[in-house]
Amino acid sequence: MADKDTVKYGIIGVGMMGREHLINLHHLRSEGVAVVCIADPHPPSQQLALELAHSFNWPLKVFSGHKELLDSGLCDVVVVSTPNMTHYQILMDIINHPKPHHVLVEKPLCTTVADCKKVVDAARKRPDILVQVGLEYRYMPPVAKLIQIVKGGTLGQVKMVAIREHRFPFLVKVNNWNRFNANTGGTLVEKCCHFFDLMRLFASSNPLRVMASGAMDVNHKDEVYDGKVPDIIDNAYVIVDFENGSRGMLDLCMFAEGSKNEQGISVVGDIGKGEAFVPESIVRIGTREAGRAGVQTLKAADDRIKYDGLHHGSSYLEHLNFLFAIRGKGTQAPEVDLQDGLISVAIGVAAQVSIETGRFVTIEEVLDELNCK
Ligand SMILES: NC(=O)c1ccc[n+]([C@@H]2O[C@H](COP(=O)([O-])OP(=O)(O)OC[C@H]3O[C@@H](n4cnc5c(N)ncnc54)[C@H](O)[C@@H]3O)[C@@H](O)[C@H]2O)c1
Repeated sequence: MADKDTVKYGIIGVGMMGREHLINLHHLRSEGVAVVCIADPHPPSQQLALELAHSFNWPLKVFSGHKELLDSGLCDVVVVSTPNMTHYQILMDIINHPKPHHVLVEKPLCTTVADCKKVVDAARKRPDILVQVGLEYRYMPPVAKLIQIVKGGTLGQVKMVAIREHRFPFLVKVNNWNRFNANTGGTLVEKCCHFFDLMRLFASSNPLRVMASGAMDVNHKDEVYDGKVPDIIDNAYVIVDFENGSRGMLDLCMFAEGSKNEQGISVVGDIGKGEAFVPESIVRIGTREAGRAGVQTLKAADDRIKYDGLHHGSSYLEHLNFLFAIRGKGTQAPEVDLQDGLISVAIGVAAQVSIETGRFVTIEEVLDELNCK
């Protein structure tokens, strides 16, 4: 049972990711957290969440919509893990609600830059609310280790960041919302915001312009929903130029089940090169001076992780970090903030527009008010 010091959570959207948050929060119970309510209109999702909560001995109030959950006043923190196209309205309702609720919102922040900007503006007027964006790939142990190495200066000034994601196709979701760009923001927003966020971190710079080529070449072609064939791309190359002169490249393939690693990251500076591999959980570092013979292979692990879940422990660490910010009562900003959420979406949107138009697209262009209706 929750006592007065317990940080009480509500989860809005308890599909695959919402239940993953529920399990992660259960593994944080010794830190004084409890999930006390959920909101989801889909009875099978409600049922699966209820079964989990009962197995954790957590009494759970169930709502079918987020407004009832907010009005109940039952929780202090909400996790938003609903389909991407619903994030905007749900976030605005949370931010404009008289009772302050801290928010962890799943990526992407919203499906359009205009909506992200409206959320950023609204949140600015609520300094009593902390908002963290679920860009949790930063916390995967090999990625976190490479970030630490890069920030420590071992590789020198970063010039090139290449990220390869070679994986399985998009999974089936409730009501197949993830099959259409209008719901997801497009593949390069929906999932690749994670990688654009990492590029920005490694490059220590903001993006200037984006060029991309991509298509739906293999997956989903024989699927039809309400008479419509999915329009989401399943492979792409994306080049990102950063303000400080460094460049990023994303190589995305979603029909590459035959891969040892799902993600491979290479960061090259003027002194050395670092690589991270997921799920092998290794990091390699070397310098130009020491050459191939000097390359070290390091195992990456984080013994704070009590639950690996679907994302190699990164969701657990994401919650641990957000809880730290919440307990800091305003002295500690969330590690992944709304600006990170906005820029990662802007790069994805620029990449989608580049594919449609066959040209470089500037970030200024997609951030421009006129294009943000
Ligand atoms: N961080 C990550 O790596 C990661 C991984 C997977 C999914 N996600 C994100 O999590 C979110 C949810 O994805 P998912 O895979 O769980 O999808 P899902 O389809 O499995 O679950 C979505 C749930 O939200 C519910 N829902 C729909 N509209 C709602 C509303 N207005 N209010 C409350 N509930 C509503 C649905 O009924 C469903 O149960 C998406 O934004 C997705 O991009 C993030």
